[in-house]
Amino acid sequence: MRFDVVTLFPEMFAAVTDHGITRRARELGLWQFAAWNPRDFTSDRHRTVDDRPFGGGPGMVLMAEPLAAAVDAARAAQSQAGFASGLVLALATGGRPLADARVRAWAAEGRPLVLVCGRYEGIDQRFLDACIDEEVSIGDFVLSGGELAAMAVIDAVVRQLPGALKFESTADESFADGLLDAPHYTRPENWRERAVPAALLSGHHAQIERWRREQALAQTAERRPDLVVVARASGRLDDSDEKFLRRLAQGAGGGKPPAILNPSSAAATASSA
Ligand SMILES: C[S@@+](CC[C@H](N)C(=O)[O-])C[C@H]1O[C@@H](n2cnc3c(N)ncnc32)[C@H](O)[C@@H]1O
Repeated sequence: MRFDVVTLFPEMFAAVTDHGITRRARELGLWQFAAWNPRDFTSDRHRTVDDRPFGGGPGMVLMAEPLAAAVDAARAAQSQAGFASGLVLALATGGRPLADARVRAWAAEGRPLVLVCGRYEGIDQRFLDACIDEEVSIGDFVLSGGELAAMAVIDAVVRQLPGALKFESTADESFADGLLDAPHYTRPENWRERAVPAALLSGHHAQIERWRREQALAQTAERRPDLVVVARASGRLDDSDEKFLRRLAQGAGGGKPPAILNPSSAAATASSA
């Protein structure tokens, strides 16, 4: 897979090229990286990439032409390297929220991605209209630039590439089966008067798997009931899952039952519709 990033701060990307899982995956040849600085596609002495917004207002706006020229160069390089035509994405506060399914789809397709990082007040809309396939947001908050968001995309996609993870598998991570992950514990068995749950010490594989499944269901129901609705609607919950959720709703799990488990709640009604 190949990522080409259009950015005023190429050096920031050392965070993904030079560290951890993404570094190892790159060294294994699972992904390639190139950065394109819009300043290299300017024609004036000051290498100007931004200007004041038409209509007034604070801040500066990234100009269309240096970004478009950088994207063209990135796409040409991808094609010369033998890659099929890929997607051009802009990181943007107003973009489609990034989610696990799309990350996995990009990794499975393996098409190259061009990631365009905004700065300042943002990017000239005409560039977005003319050159971008999709805008992507990593959450409802404002970053100072698209670089951290682009790195989030790269990291999330790369760890899905076959061979990227040395020990773990992405198959049992959060969202893979529509639920959050179960909690994890390691040594010591007792820490500050908190013991590891007995099921995990049983050595009984089926019992451990069931405990993990129930913990995943309970955590998801409590923290992200919206995910339970989707998992149920897409047929990802089996009879024993439903039985456990009903017991949880009746208070067998201790504490207040999450709203999703109350049969009269709006979410439960939506899920059975
Ligand atoms: C300071 S922000 C611009 C914010 C913009 N004026 C607004 O109010 O929505 C500069 C750049 O950071 C990036 N950015 C900021 N927050 C982001 C987010 N949550 N997801 C993706 N990109 C983001 C975008 O590329 C954006 O053009």
